[in-house]
Amino acid sequence: MSIGIHDLAVSTAHHVVDLAELAEATGVDPAKYQIGLGQDRMSFPAPDEDIVTMGAAAALPLLERHGTDGIRTVLFATESGVDQSKSAGLFVHELLGLPRTMRVAEFKQACYGATAALQSALGIVARNPRERVLVIASDVARYELDTPGEPTQGAGAVAMLVSADPALLAIEPVSGVAARDVDDFWRPNDSTTAVVDGRLSLTAYLGALTTAWDDFAAGGGVGAGQIDRFCFHQPFTKMARKALKGLAQHTGVELGDELQEATFAYNRELGNTYTASLYAGLAALLDQDDTLAGTRIGLFSYGSGAVGEFFTGIVQPGYQEQRRCEAVTAELAGRVPLSLSEYRELHATEHASGTDLETPRVTQGPFRFAGIRRQARQYEATQG
Ligand SMILES: CC(C)(COP(=O)(O)OP(=O)(O)OC[C@H]1O[C@@H](n2cnc3c(N)ncnc32)[C@H](O)[C@@H]1OP(=O)(O)O)[C@@H](O)C(=O)NCCC(=O)NCCS
Repeated sequence: MSIGIHDLAVSTAHHVVDLAELAEATGVDPAKYQIGLGQDRMSFPAPDEDIVTMGAAAALPLLERHGTDGIRTVLFATESGVDQSKSAGLFVHELLGLPRTMRVAEFKQACYGATAALQSALGIVARNPRERVLVIASDVARYELDTPGEPTQGAGAVAMLVSADPALLAIEPVSGVAARDVDDFWRPNDSTTAVVDGRLSLTAYLGALTTAWDDFAAGGGVGAGQIDRFCFHQPFTKMARKALKGLAQHTGVELGDELQEATFAYNRELGNTYTASLYAGLAALLDQDDTLAGTRIGLFSYGSGAVGEFFTGIVQPGYQEQRRCEAVTAELAGRVPLSLSEYRELHATEHASGTDLETPRVTQGPFRFAGIRRQARQYEATQG
């Protein structure tokens, strides 16, 4: 029996900011963002959107396609949690009308959280192959204005259904892991934006990759030459290019960018989606490349602070039958552009959790954040 990702879906926010416009307005050469960072645009949430609405929107098509039978667990991974105690997964559970017989929890370790959730899901299914697990990765990446991190913001969610005999990707058992306490990126409890040491985050990412790779090799993992495609965490897509180059140097195996080029398509548009980024890369790869059946993908997950994991999966025959291309392309194209002043105004908007709030109706997505009543967040379906 194999276990892995049976289906996955991507969702994003209502607005978009064009990085060429941001560059021009701030006196930066647009090529720095488009080529230097490998990013074209970044999604930005409307006032009635957040990680919950994006996460529920990503999960909805999975439930429509596969029903809820056997789903007894929802694992919600995020760095941009909306509550210190309650799992964002519980709001999603209600919005999606999932059965009451369910365990729901939130996973946190910066951008790595979704991989921790995925590994836990694999364990749950291994124990009882009749169960399926809904894993949701959803984040709003936000840095201070006028900082080097500003062009690497973004927003989006990926939902994955994890099951036995998966239709998309069977995850292989060997995993290489790496952990080290490092202050490269974090978000204090009273801050809506992340604190980041950009330079340190690059070296910490590359260090975690080589440590995880060595652990993967020591645990009996295949050689780099036996991996057909690579899909790495993409805080900005250029980072994955640096990482593959680093892995090639580390292993002495030639690994060209053509082995990962297809993974960039969605993330160049979404911006950084933290926990969702690696899996948005995987979605793009599965959507863009017709020659993957039976091939092995090497995935590297990194979360600042810092944890890394390298693992592999085998693409299943017939994976093309469940493509997301049209839906993702339409959602990306349908985003409403923000002018620079609108973006800055929205960026600066903060709401104290102690006062009631009714949000304006903006999002065209299936779910919305309606506001805050008696300090509790309220969500609703936009139709019906
Ligand atoms: C990544 C980050 C540090 C870059 O910030 P920065 O100091 O403004 O950017 P740099 O000066 O390093 O330039 C970025 C790239 O653009 C290139 N560049 C600069 N101007 C350019 C131009 N006109 N045309 C093409 N490329 C250009 C630089 O050479 C550099 O590429 P390289 O790293 O391959 O050499 C910053 O965006 C950040 O802090 N991001 C958040 C943290 C993050 O995402 N970390 C990743 C690990 S989790």
